Amino acid sequence: MSKILVTGGAGFIGSHLTDKLAQKGHNVLIIDNLSTGFKENINSLRDGSSQKKAKFYQMDIRSVAIDKIIEKEQPAAVYHLAAQVDVRKSLQDPNLDVEINISGSINLLKSCLKHKVQKVIFASTGGAIYGEQEYFPADERHPAFPVSPYGVAKLTVEKYLHCFYENFGLNYVCLRLANVYGPRQNPKGDQGVVAIFCGKLLNGEQVTIYGDGKQTRDYVYVDDVVNAFVSALDYSKNEVFNIGTAIETNVNQLYEILAEKVGSNSSKTYGPERLGEQKRSVIDFAKAKKELNWEPEVNLEQGLEKTLEYYQKKKMVLVG
Ligand SMILES: NC(=O)c1ccc[n+]([C@@H]2O[C@H](COP(=O)([O-])OP(=O)(O)OC[C@H]3O[C@@H](n4cnc5c(N)ncnc54)[C@H](O)[C@@H]3O)[C@@H](O)[C@H]2O)c1
Repeated sequence: MSKILVTGGAGFIGSHLTDKLAQKGHNVLIIDNLSTGFKENINSLRDGSSQKKAKFYQMDIRSVAIDKIIEKEQPAAVYHLAAQVDVRKSLQDPNLDVEINISGSINLLKSCLKHKVQKVIFASTGGAIYGEQEYFPADERHPAFPVSPYGVAKLTVEKYLHCFYENFGLNYVCLRLANVYGPRQNPKGDQGVVAIFCGKLLNGEQVTIYGDGKQTRDYVYVDDVVNAFVSALDYSKNEVFNIGTAIETNVNQLYEILAEKVGSNSSKTYGPERLGEQKRSVIDFAKAKKELNWEPEVNLEQGLEKTLEYYQKKKMVLVG
């Protein structure tokens, strides 16, 4: 059992990862500035959580004080998930995206090097790194020409990780995640179409589909993603992996499945296409299957049911 730092551990994916690591007996630390994450997501602060508690530092990854925490805590491994996650915001304000997603990451990696962290596991993107795909599904060798600053930043950090490994021996694994969905994704946010649709449908509100709804994504359930992160910890090489399902679903189909499950009378409307949105995105996970022994276990129907059940139970006031 080791001491493990999770940046972004108060967020959607990071909080599930923290839970799993704690369950496995690891000593988990979290760094998060709570910009899009929530204190309630953190297992030590969640009511009734019986898991081993994670230690929480409310801090920005751009802060110089990060170094003091890593020096004091000496984590063996770092999962780096903290990020500016909004693709559209990255187009509106590329400088901010660079500051958080590139400079903030380098700030963290420098401390990892200095204090001899053994390994960094990075949450990259399979949805935004390839740009408009030339073939479907994209494997890891597909050309990477992201069409958003967010995607450019993720690719840049992957390259830094490789560079730091080659020069200084810092081990890494990058997981290029497809569109992740599941409990705790913020339905009030601008990201995460599944959470937004669940929120609207359960509230009986009108759903807006941007563009013609024929844009496709590869939807992967959060528990599957967490399993991939866990497998990456024991993986001994330095590699990049796609973590997705290789199945394309368009937004209209997603709406229809969810509306039927909710039994909703909510109507849908179409809005203008959004800047930076790719037409089709779907990724191949054969490399992860071969090397990490990972494959998705939850299909879309099952995953959507689990997600809806969560939002129904939570009885949240869901507004968009
Ligand atoms: N959700 C997806 O579909 C998806 C797909 C591909 C990649 N990813 C990546 O996975 C990671 C987690 O995403 P998520 O969906 O859980 O989003 P999220 O917004 O729920 O989690 C991000 C967390 O990072 C924290 N954070 C943001 N900026 C920070 C900063 N400057 N300093 C410290 N903490 C900061 C937020 O408060 C939040 O808790 C991100 O790196 C994201 O880019 C997500």
